[in-house]
Amino acid sequence: MRALNVPAAGEQPQLSDVPTPVPTEGTVLIRVKAAGLNPIDNAVAAGMLAHWGLPYQYPTVIGRDAAGVVEAVGEGVDHVKVGDEVLGHVLLAPPISAGTLAEYALLPAAAVTKKPAGLDFTTAAALPLAGASAVQVIDAIHPQPGQTVLVNGASGGVGSFVVQLLAARGVKVVATGKARDTARLKDLGATQVVDHTAGPVADQVRALYPDGVDALINLHGMDPSAVPLGAVRQGGKVSGVAAVPDEATLSAAGLTGGSVMAMPVREVLAPLAEQAAAGKLQVVVSDVLPLERAAEGLGRLATGGAGGKLVVTL
Ligand SMILES: NC(=O)c1ccc[n+]([C@@H]2O[C@H](COP(=O)([O-])OP(=O)(O)OC[C@H]3O[C@@H](n4cnc5c(N)ncnc54)[C@H](OP(=O)(O)O)[C@@H]3O)[C@@H](O)[C@H]2O)c1
Repeated sequence: MRALNVPAAGEQPQLSDVPTPVPTEGTVLIRVKAAGLNPIDNAVAAGMLAHWGLPYQYPTVIGRDAAGVVEAVGEGVDHVKVGDEVLGHVLLAPPISAGTLAEYALLPAAAVTKKPAGLDFTTAAALPLAGASAVQVIDAIHPQPGQTVLVNGASGGVGSFVVQLLAARGVKVVATGKARDTARLKDLGATQVVDHTAGPVADQVRALYPDGVDALINLHGMDPSAVPLGAVRQGGKVSGVAAVPDEATLSAAGLTGGSVMAMPVREVLAPLAEQAAAGKLQVVVSDVLPLERAAEGLGRLATGGAGGKLVVTL
């Protein structure tokens, strides 16, 4: 099958033929119709997961999110059957080798759910990792209606879901984004938009909320010291899927919280897909590319400015 893959350690991703995966116990083989791109795909392509203790097996197929049609199921899988239209995610598990930027993808059954008829494949493929991350970073701070939450990195794939899901709970959202993102973020439910290129985010937020906001969700960057903790009031909460300072640093700032590792399991994906199909959750797909241009899409994610989800169609 055709797949965007890294043939061997240290090599660049290339589009070439690799063996079609064979379903094993607890897995679902799908014919991929669309695959959503995520920053983790660039980390996988660069071999970075090996440094986190996750060994690779080559060829390594890139991509983790997908929507498609069930081609075969392994033993023990009874919630989907051949011919079902589904969406899902390749959960991170060693050795890293399965991916979704391919004609066929092998997904763990735990992360596969039926696609509602009202949701097209492209939109469904944009949901899994970003949508689940959004649900799980919000759950981590238990926001109450009327509270104010700063979302740093709100203009990206995860942020577009976080802003909507917080606003739907009656939470006031201060979102970061460049000037060009302001209208879109307000349309998604942000109360205020702070331009992170116009000065320190914490200072800008304190100018709006002198007592500080109730919580911060961080969706940008790898450097914990760059997280705008100064925006949050004493006793406030912090979560994020990007950099989050350690417990000692948070505690010294009078804050609690920690980082979240997203798990796009089907119990999380199914309600998100239903909400999207019912038009209650906007899925911001900023561009759709053919498999031949998937590497270009990954390059755009790495350099910034994607402005939502990039999806590859097959
Ligand atoms: N741990 C996990 O389970 C998990 C799961 C999902 C995602 N993640 C991580 O979470 C992060 C967000 O993911 P994503 O899919 O939403 O990525 P994304 O689509 O690339 O979004 C990141 C956003 O941050 C914005 N940004 C750039 N510089 C900024 C700054 N100085 N201050 C505030 N915002 C800034 C970018 O805007 P521009 O495009 O305009 O530059 C972009 O919209 C990534 O680091 C990803 O690796 C982790």
